[in-house]
Parts: sequence; C-alpha cells; structure tokens
Amino acid sequence: MDLQSAEQRVKELQNQLSQYGYEYYVLDNPSVPDAEYDRLMQELLKLEEEFPELKTPDSPSQRVGGAVLDMFEKVEHTIPMLSLGNAFNEQDLRDFDARIRKAVGENVSYVCELKIDGLAVSLRYEDGLFAQGSTRGDGTIGEDITANIRTIQSVPLRLKEPISIEVRGEAYMPKRSFEALNKARQERGEELFANPRNAAAGSLRQLDPKIAASRKLDTFLYNIGNPEVIDVAAHSEGLDYLDRLGFKTNKERRKCSTIEDVLKYIKEWTEKRPQLPYEIDGIVIKLDSLEQQAALGTTAKSPRWAIAYKFPAEEVVTTLLDIELSVGRTGVITPTAILEPVKVAGTTVQRASLHNEDLIREKDIKIGDKVVVKKAGDIIPEVVNVLADQRTGEEREFHMPTHCPECESELVRLEGEVALRCINPKCPAQIREGLIHFVSRDAMNIDGLGEKVISQLFAEQLISDVADIYKLTYEQLISLERMGAKSVSNLLEAIEASKANSLEKLVFGLGIRLVGAKAAKTLAQQFGSMDRLAAASKDDLTAINEIGDKMADSIVNYFEMEEAQELIAELKAAGVNMDYKGAKPVSAEESDSVFAGKTVVLTGKLEQLSRNEAKEKIEALGGNVAGSVSKKTHLVVAGADAGSKLTKAQELGIEIWDEEKLLEELNK
Ligand code: IVH
Repeated sequence: MDLQSAEQRVKELQNQLSQYGYEYYVLDNPSVPDAEYDRLMQELLKLEEEFPELKTPDSPSQRVGGAVLDMFEKVEHTIPMLSLGNAFNEQDLRDFDARIRKAVGENVSYVCELKIDGLAVSLRYEDGLFAQGSTRGDGTIGEDITANIRTIQSVPLRLKEPISIEVRGEAYMPKRSFEALNKARQERGEELFANPRNAAAGSLRQLDPKIAASRKLDTFLYNIGNPEVIDVAAHSEGLDYLDRLGFKTNKERRKCSTIEDVLKYIKEWTEKRPQLPYEIDGIVIKLDSLEQQAALGTTAKSPRWAIAYKFPAEEVVTTLLDIELSVGRTGVITPTAILEPVKVAGTTVQRASLHNEDLIREKDIKIGDKVVVKKAGDIIPEVVNVLADQRTGEEREFHMPTHCPECESELVRLEGEVALRCINPKCPAQIREGLIHFVSRDAMNIDGLGEKVISQLFAEQLISDVADIYKLTYEQLISLERMGAKSVSNLLEAIEASKANSLEKLVFGLGIRLVGAKAAKTLAQQFGSMDRLAAASKDDLTAINEIGDKMADSIVNYFEMEEAQELIAELKAAGVNMDYKGAKPVSAEESDSVFAGKTVVLTGKLEQLSRNEAKEKIEALGGNVAGSVSKKTHLVVAGADAGSKLTKAQELGIEIWDEEKLLEELNK
C-alpha cells in the first residue's frame, strides 16, 4: 500500500474505532461485535507499524500504553482542585441548606450525585485534543499521569468540539475488575489490594503505562475547571455539555429543588448502593446555579456551594491487646491502641489513636477489653466504645507514664492542655517526627522520603536536622535497606526540586509551634520572604487578622532562637528558596476599587461573611484591613453589637458602613 492510501485507511480506522470505543465504553451500548472491533484494531496497528508517521496521539491504538517513565513530573493546578466539606447526618444537610438559602435566597436548586470512591483526576484538553492528565496531589500541585490516563478507554482522546477545557472527575476501578485483579494476584502469590480505590490509585501510580492499561479503570467526570469557556449557567448544564463532548458522566445524578428531595435521594441510594457495579462512599450535593456558586465562593479547601454526605462508617468488634505510647513532633505523648487485627471498610486495622489519657478515662477503656472500632471518614481508625458487659475481670487499667518513653525526661502537662508532653528539645523522637513533618505533602512535599526512609536515615545518623536532607549523597542513600539506584536518583531529584518550593511550604515545614499550613500561607503572602518574616515584631504579626497573640509569640520566639537562625542560614546556603512565589494580594495602585489604598477596620459580628473572608476580599481589591481604629483609618465596617471601635470611629468622624453596604461594594 502506498502512503497516500495508507493515510486514508488509517484515518478511517481511527475514526471508526474511536466511535466504536465511545459506544462501548462511554455509552455502554456497542454497535458492533467485539470481534469486529478487534479485527479493525489489528489492521490499524499493522498499518501504523508500517507507516509510523501516521500514528497520532489521539489514535485509539495509543491506549495500549507507551514507554516506561522514570518518575512522574509535577503539575501545577492553575485552577486549584478543591475537596468537599462533609455532612454525616440529616441535621448537617439541613444546616448546609439553611446557609445556602441565607446567602443566595430561597430560589435554589441542587444537583445530587453519587460520590464515587476512586481518586480525583484533572484532564486538560487543548483545541479538543487530550493534552494532560494529573492527580489531585495537595490540590495545587499534582502529578502528571498523562500516559496512564490515556490508557483508560472511557477518556476521550479527542473531543467532539475543538475546545480547550479542563475537566475534573473520578478515576475508579469497577467492582468486577477489582475482583478479577485480586483473584489473579492471589493466584500469582502477590499482595492483594484492600479495596477498589487503592487498586485504582496503585494502577495510576505505575510508571509503566502498560500496567495501567491492563487494569481496566474507568472514569466519571463531574466538574469543569473553567466553565466560562462554554456557555452554561448551571452545573447540570455543564454535565450535559460534558456528555456532548464525549465524556462519561454519571447518569444517576438528579436535580432536587428542596432539601427534602435531597434526603430522599440519599435514602434511595443508601439502599441501592450494594447493587452498583462500582463503589460509592457518599452523595455529593451541589448548588446548581453557577452564579449562586460564585456568590458563595470557596474557603481555602472547599467550595461553600457543595457538600459531601458520607455514608455511616462500618463498625466492628475486636480486642484491645495493649496500649503503646508514641512521642509526636511537638513532644505530645499519644497513647495508641494495639488491636487484634480486624477488617474494617476494606482494610485491616491493628492500631488506633486514643489521643490522650482523659479520653481513655472517659470511654473507660481497659487493656484486654472488647472494643467497637470504625474508620472515621472511612480512613482513620478509631475506638468508638467499650463493650463493658463482656469483661472477664482480667482487663487491666492503663496509666500514663511519668517519663518520656523515648528519652526518659520527665513529662509535663502544660496549663490548659489535656496532653502530656516531653519538653526536652533534644528528644530524638521529636526530632525524627519533625523531619517527617518537613518532607510531608503540605510541607516540602519530597516524594520518596517517607516515614520509613527518614527513620532509617535518622537512626543511621545521616541526618539530624532538616538542613542535612540537602546534604545527602548518592553513596549514603544507596547504603540504605531496600534502596535501588533508580529510587536513589529519583529521591535526589525530588530533594533538589523541593528547593524551588514557594516560601509557605518551608515556613510550614519548619514546624513552628501553632503555625499550620494555612497560617504559613498567610505569613508567606504578607511578608514575601523569610528574612522579612524573621524580622517581624509581635505587632507586625498581630496586625494580620488571622494571627493571634499566641501564634505571634510563638513565631517571634522561634526566630529569636540561635538554632533556628543557623538552620535557616544553612537551608539558604543549600539553595532552598526563601521567597513567596504565589499570587500576591493586588497592590493599591493596581486596583481601582473604592478599597484601593484604604485602611479598613472590621468590628462587630458580620452575618454573611466571616471576618477572614471580608478581609481577604477587601485586600484582593487593594484595601488594607487593620485591627484598631486610629486617625489613619479610612473606613469602619460595623456589624451587629459593635462596641468601642465603633464609638471611637464616631468620635473621630470616620466613615461607617454596615455589612450590607460592604457587600454591595465588594460585589461591584
Ligand atoms: S465534586 C469542587 N463530585 O470526593 C468540587 N467530588 O472531597 C470538588 N468525588 O476530591 C469535587 N465523586 O475525589 C465531586 N460526584 C462527585 C464526586 C467527587 C467523588 C471525590 C473527589 C473529591 C472528593 C471530595
């Protein structure tokens, strides 16, 4: 065959096979027998082999899986991948509904969807061509799993319109594929996957796309990252649009105009859940109107216009064999229940945190007790209660120790705290936990440096503080147990890459007491660099709304410590970035809003917005929010029960707004 006729035939085959694949995998309604599909595929593969120049990335032949990767590249989600707030009962849902109605009025309608138990993925298309698939990661940075996503048959490689769009959804493993996979693994003597979600995640984390291709994964798409590129006014219209573009969406979705209808949908699916061919772990309720969604906005983590109802967790009975103690990063001693291994919601559980001594007393937990165990949020094992009537008299009372189980220094109970703490700053357990924290996902996010490797490195005295991580060599790492050349070079690359992280990751990673991931972000945004943050006074810090007295003290104390200064100098010398790289609040000059360059004080109770939200919005418009009223204040927003700040503003003749006026100006 000559090139020209080959080209024509290849195009024909590609189109035909794409259409048949779509009918089979997306519509679940094949129009040709499997044998016919296979015959055409063989013909296409042969022609593409003979004329490789005719192979295109959207050819149906490309789903078999290409070259093996070295590692997954990181992908930045320019539109963050949010998660959802949870509801566990009817009241939570009624509260959600009330909040929505209060914010946007009575004219609301919801879309209920099944909450698919897989893993969130983002798919990017450029001019209708599949360009990139990624995992959620921490919501801002995920991993590039394009090669694996391409092998999922229900993911279109070319859309029915040449648009550039980013869609989000769930990749999952159907129950049948999961059972077949585990059966085959059992026969080969391989470890079994605990549940379909782990199997799906494990498949997409394979560097060899041929493995993912063999795993029979599927998708449901449920959200458009950039809905403004298409002409839709509601979430439900967006889903219909996704259908028209060739995506697989879940057909069990239902529009509900009242919370009663939502509850009915939940009841229905709680009963029908076992009959589904895939696992679900709840129901997602989304406000339908995109305009109303925008009015409600999002918190840092999740949209305010949606919520996930989680099915109640499975509870099982087991025996509490012992209580072990562990020392955390901040010296807190945590008692952990050691349980007779038992299967709960798909995985074997043998440990559960008991948090502190008070909780052990409250629940009247004794060693040897029969206990009820569940997984909170289906992830974290928890002892729910004790079956006291099954006691034999052999059970033993548990007492917290007086000395640290790791370094033997005396434990203290700080004022106002329930926890016992080891306050020895040189306690090896605390140092080790601090190192584990530093490399964790919300901190420096160093792949391949998990708890086990860190513990080994620490035990071998190859690292004693976080700066040592940047001095690790190939020779040192290769000497560790179970470390091959490939993993060592990947690890070194991940360490190197972490140097470029934006400042907030480092600030959080340092483990300054009371400074969580969110506060770290605020600090990085406000101060811009580590030097400026380190030089900040308590007043500078408390001038920021989210930073309270205690946190400010903790930050100032931290940077006053010589050890901290040395550590930061070492990190700097190692080439670790010390600057904030994210979006800065808009500067006053850039903004032409009424807030530009104005100092605003918020006082009293706001009804529609939290203080933080109001502050964020004002700052985004170029305003500055201060904590106290002075001659420099331009504007005071007074909510309900405003007190002395309002009086002072009146005395000084400062302009005063109510919340309504604020909202009006913010929404302009
Ligand atoms: S909506 C901003 N819809 O549940 C929208 N999520 O914490 C966020 N999930 O990470 C997600 N089924 O992996 C949405 N129909 C559905 C879903 C769904 C499963 C997962 C998703 C997300 C998590 C929520």
